[in-house]
Amino acid sequence: MTTIDRGLRVPPGPPKAAALRWLMEMGRDRLRMMRTAAERYGDAVRLPVGHKELYFFNHPDHAKHVLSDNSANYHKGIGLVHARRALGDGLLTSEGDLWRKQRKVVQPAFQSKRIAEQAGVIAEEAGKLVARLQGHVGRDPVDIVHEMTGLTLGVLGRTLLDTDLGAFSSIGDNFAAVQDQAMFELATLSTVPTWLPLPRQLRFRQARAELQVIVDQLVAQRSARSVDRDDVLSRLIVSARDESDPRVGQQRLRDELVTLLLAGHETTASTLGWTLYLIDRHPEVRQRLHEEAVEVLGDRTPVYEDLRRLRYTAMVVDEVMRLFPPVWILPRQALAEDEVGGYHVPAGADVLICPFTLHRNPRFWESPDTFDPERFDPDVTTDRPRYAYIPFGAGPRFCVGNNLGMMEAAFVIAMISRELRLAKVPQYEVVPEPMLSLRVRGGLPMTIHRAS
Ligand code: HEM
Repeated sequence: MTTIDRGLRVPPGPPKAAALRWLMEMGRDRLRMMRTAAERYGDAVRLPVGHKELYFFNHPDHAKHVLSDNSANYHKGIGLVHARRALGDGLLTSEGDLWRKQRKVVQPAFQSKRIAEQAGVIAEEAGKLVARLQGHVGRDPVDIVHEMTGLTLGVLGRTLLDTDLGAFSSIGDNFAAVQDQAMFELATLSTVPTWLPLPRQLRFRQARAELQVIVDQLVAQRSARSVDRDDVLSRLIVSARDESDPRVGQQRLRDELVTLLLAGHETTASTLGWTLYLIDRHPEVRQRLHEEAVEVLGDRTPVYEDLRRLRYTAMVVDEVMRLFPPVWILPRQALAEDEVGGYHVPAGADVLICPFTLHRNPRFWESPDTFDPERFDPDVTTDRPRYAYIPFGAGPRFCVGNNLGMMEAAFVIAMISRELRLAKVPQYEVVPEPMLSLRVRGGLPMTIHRAS
């Protein structure tokens, strides 16, 4: 192991000569790349990839330091920098004073009291989904990823914007095109010029333009109704009006809305998709979910108070997000040099905290690849460090929508489990696809049956 001045160590890692091989692996299989690096080199790795050196940390203390204790020294890093071309300066990608100001505008609409008021809307949307799925009982398979994406967009539309996003059916595809390009740029470390008229690039530009048109329409609809609902959309419109340059205000508003729609729908849809996949593979878990849903909900639609009674459902969702954290990687860039866990991080370094590998670090998780919701039994005390599990991130950039996401996931899983059993098409292979969120590649076809 090398040391530098002041006795700080440089993290171990592959030789620079292997940089091209790791770059190719990053394009081929990013999750495997991160797992291999952690297994071979330990909790801190210096990873040469293409022309870059990535500093990859995989210990809860390291995550705490970078995301929380010394978060002021870190900006968002690779991947998100690429997504910025589409998302602009929305909450996910903005920094400094602009981020602080925007977070203050948006946050009050996400307080748990406000989210509790949305329980009825979420339950109603989940009810519509269950009814739709019931229509497929005994029929051809349904793409569950597609269904969950439609559901989460519908919920976002109603909870944040008080509108029916069903009318904008292209939103999901547009976000897919945006992510496709952002991940391509990440996988090639931006070595392919963005002005080249490649089909992916053209699709990206078209998608970005369409998303802007959609959010402009949402704003116009709301302005025409001239009601102040004090929801996210109203708050953002008021804040945009305060901007001295109206064009800047309008662009902020667009960026913020596109960001919220992306950050809010993909993550929750991914959680739901992985949950339905895993409970199909674990009939004993499915049975317990069914029993809990029947016992807690009976024949009724869930209300906010049910959330804490759906205890096992929450344990299952937590365990799903451990194995398949929707935000599988948290990229950062160090502003000044730093020391992380005794290792030197130079100024400007690309730093990676990877919930996917952190949540499977065998030092903190027994049989890390086994799906076992009991790990999250709130009555069992554990000495696991808090930062060993960070599906919603940590520190100041902690997910603003976590309450909304959790309530939605719990209601949807409970309502589906009460009525239905979903079964994956037997020959279909499920492969995780680490984009901005951790998706199921190519969708998830499942057949629908009545719960027994
Ligand atoms: C299960 C569902 C969800 C998961 C697992 C999740 C996860 C995360 C994570 C890990 C971050 C931190 C990213 C980073 O530090 O780089 C984040 C940030 C964010 N999330 Fe979520 N999220 C979920 C649902 C939602 C929902 C429903 C919304 C909104 C409608 C939302 C909006 C955001 C926003 C705006 C940020 C950026 C916050 C900031 O930097 O100030 N998320 N989310």
